[in-house]
Amino acid sequence: MSSVDRALDVDGLRADTPGCERVVHLNNAGSALPPAVVTDTVVAHLRREEEIGGYEAHAEAADRIEAVRASAADLLGAHADSIALVESATAAWMRGLQAVVHSRPLGPGDRMLVSTAEYASNVLPLLQLARTTGARLEFVPDRADGSLDVDAFAAMLADDVALVSVTHCPSQNGVVNDVAAVGVLLADHPAWYLVDACQSVGQLPVDAHAIGADVLSVTGRKFLRGPRGTGLLYVSQAALDGLEPFPLDLHGATWTENGYVMAPTARRFEFWEKSYAVILGLGAAIDYAQACGIEAIAARIGSLAERARTGLAAIGGVRVLDRGAVRSGIVTFAHDDVEADALVAAIRAAGVNVSLSTPDYAVRDFTSYGTSADDAPRSRVRVSPHAYNTEAEVDRLLEVVDTATRA
Ligand SMILES: Cc1ncc(COP(=O)(O)O)c(C=O)c1O
Repeated sequence: MSSVDRALDVDGLRADTPGCERVVHLNNAGSALPPAVVTDTVVAHLRREEEIGGYEAHAEAADRIEAVRASAADLLGAHADSIALVESATAAWMRGLQAVVHSRPLGPGDRMLVSTAEYASNVLPLLQLARTTGARLEFVPDRADGSLDVDAFAAMLADDVALVSVTHCPSQNGVVNDVAAVGVLLADHPAWYLVDACQSVGQLPVDAHAIGADVLSVTGRKFLRGPRGTGLLYVSQAALDGLEPFPLDLHGATWTENGYVMAPTARRFEFWEKSYAVILGLGAAIDYAQACGIEAIAARIGSLAERARTGLAAIGGVRVLDRGAVRSGIVTFAHDDVEADALVAAIRAAGVNVSLSTPDYAVRDFTSYGTSADDAPRSRVRVSPHAYNTEAEVDRLLEVVDTATRA
């Protein structure tokens, strides 16, 4: 499948990744460069659809499609029955939420607890629910280091908490939240526990069961290096026993003479129609990552991210904004004089892909500490290396930032 099997061989990773020849891609938290095997797998399935018909190609690939579920389960320390194949992390998280609120409608007496660094697309539907049901949305404060304060969470937890959502690795601050510690506190509590693992799966080992999540959402295109339009939803056994997704379609349930019967597995969270080509591509990405070894990937991403942080901090006027005692591979910084959007434009113009983190993606996090001398919430530059990046590429970024910020 690839030139990488046991040890992490960076040259091999790069040879497997055609994009490495064209760009310095430090935007893996946005959407990574896929290895060729991913694109080849997608294209091969599209070709079969062209040759023999979409349903026929689907039938032919049925075992391989089910194998994607098994690969995803293995990746997340789960059983294949706990995995739904969906279109994005947002689709996964939303279907979990829909099931939670359909199974027990919220009312004015209910509380919803979320992390301060929660992603906007998780907070927006909860704001809607707060408005329409009267349930209260509360943010769990961070510790001084910027990670979720588990003790504060424990103090906030009471019988009226109906759901909890924590973002494992926020997209904008380099933190790794201790989602397993929250899971321990929720083990005997009836609140449903949603974990946003969108930025962590693929860059760190993630065991959904060990975390104690009821619902865990994953995207394909970021650190997993899968195709766009893919995602995974993990659903715990307790959630399978207690949650009914809404709405169901004919793939997630069977219409019977007397009503309907839900699929016994997490398949009930899926819809029938989707791109099976990209699902197969996601399977190839997961198998590729597993062949590399997630621990080895995590170690390399961590070391490249630290190199970037150290080098950036040494450039005059640059402030590295990452916090947390445990750091992810997401590096964010701002400059005292050059606005982040101008900096991103200059870095991109030099052939290095980085992205802009804007306050609207995580309003609470951006307003909880300043990114500028006057502490106003400002956009940040985000740098997110992957295992296929080189030290020389990180150094190239540092050189470009140094030049772009020199007065
Ligand atoms: C922390 C976090 N959660 C959720 C999402 C949404 O993922 P998707 O775009 O795959 O729905 C993102 C995307 O950047 C993210 O960073």
